Amino acid sequence: MADQYVATTESAGLPAVPALRWEEPPEGPVLVLLDQRRLPVEEVELRCTDVPALVDAIRTLAVRGAPLLGIAGAYGVALAAVRGFQVDDAADLLAHARPTAVNLAHGVRRAQRAYQEAVKAGADAGGAAAAALAEARALHREDAEDSARMAAHGLALLEELLPGGGYRLLTHCNTGALVSGGEGTALAVAGAAHGVGQLRRLWVDETRPLLQGARLTAYEAARAGMAYTLLTDNAAGSLFAAGEVDAVLIGADRIAADGSVANKVGSYPLAVLARYHHVPFIVVAPRTTVDLGTAEGAAIEVEQRPGHEVTEFAVLPAAGAQAGTGVPVAPLGTQAYNPAFDVTPPELVTAIVTETGVVSPVTRTGLAELCARSRTG
Ligand code: MRU
Repeated sequence: MADQYVATTESAGLPAVPALRWEEPPEGPVLVLLDQRRLPVEEVELRCTDVPALVDAIRTLAVRGAPLLGIAGAYGVALAAVRGFQVDDAADLLAHARPTAVNLAHGVRRAQRAYQEAVKAGADAGGAAAAALAEARALHREDAEDSARMAAHGLALLEELLPGGGYRLLTHCNTGALVSGGEGTALAVAGAAHGVGQLRRLWVDETRPLLQGARLTAYEAARAGMAYTLLTDNAAGSLFAAGEVDAVLIGADRIAADGSVANKVGSYPLAVLARYHHVPFIVVAPRTTVDLGTAEGAAIEVEQRPGHEVTEFAVLPAAGAQAGTGVPVAPLGTQAYNPAFDVTPPELVTAIVTETGVVSPVTRTGLAELCARSRTG
């Protein structure tokens, strides 16, 4: 079950409300999400007390973005355990709620393993649930720490590639504090550049069809006081042609062992544009996004979303969650092609930045070596 209340804030900086938190009120534990479907219009929290509510929140993008999906999945397992639901069934439901971001299954299986190991070691139900919760909390904390490491590595890379400073960075989708236990991935790097006074402009792709750039990245950039400009996705080409982009910074939902990068649909065309215009195309993602078990890009499952997200405008995706509730922008019955992600081949990626460092050029061995490094160096 999920219910909601409205939070308000006047302060600038990080989102008003954390993207996700665990609470233990007298009536029982709850996973509290900042409902991202309602941003930037309202800061509304969604309180999930069971796994079906969380699965629905994941599918409808109330909670989204690869690292945060992993954290939410891990807490979801803890929620099932603490509330006495069947943990393995809950874990399977959660792990398959969305197919592309590998972090989701990673977070779910990590908490599930902690639960199973506790059971094997003789823990009672309460003890095993506590083990799952401790694991979710550990993942949450590590993700925050890893954000800071990625921001530092990413900033160092920008300094190396663009020694003049004053960066004009283009980003796609949303990769900030709304997708992380910390300040995020690609947007955390832009934030680090802003912090040292070197972000001249953040170009924000609106990110059709669900507008994660317009609704979420612009929201975060505004709160952080960054100089940002919103553009329609198809305006990016003329921006490159005018020489207005120094680097592209994006996140990832899954990185295959060969360095292919699945990210929000529209990322691949940006990589092609960046190559044509000799602009660095930089991917920032934690190692939980790297899936060495997927050999190459073609093997990544790309989520296909409902056509009505394309054929109807919904000012807020929540309002358009059901077909027929948005404003129609195509004749009734029009078929739509609506993949949520696309895959960029490694040869178009200048560098991949993780919490353990940078791989450039992107090679299978370089990526494996980066993944084998210890987090704390
Ligand atoms: O469909 P979404 O909003 O979950 O897609 C999110 C993205 O594509 C992000 O760019 C990706 O998860 C990286 S977030 C660090």
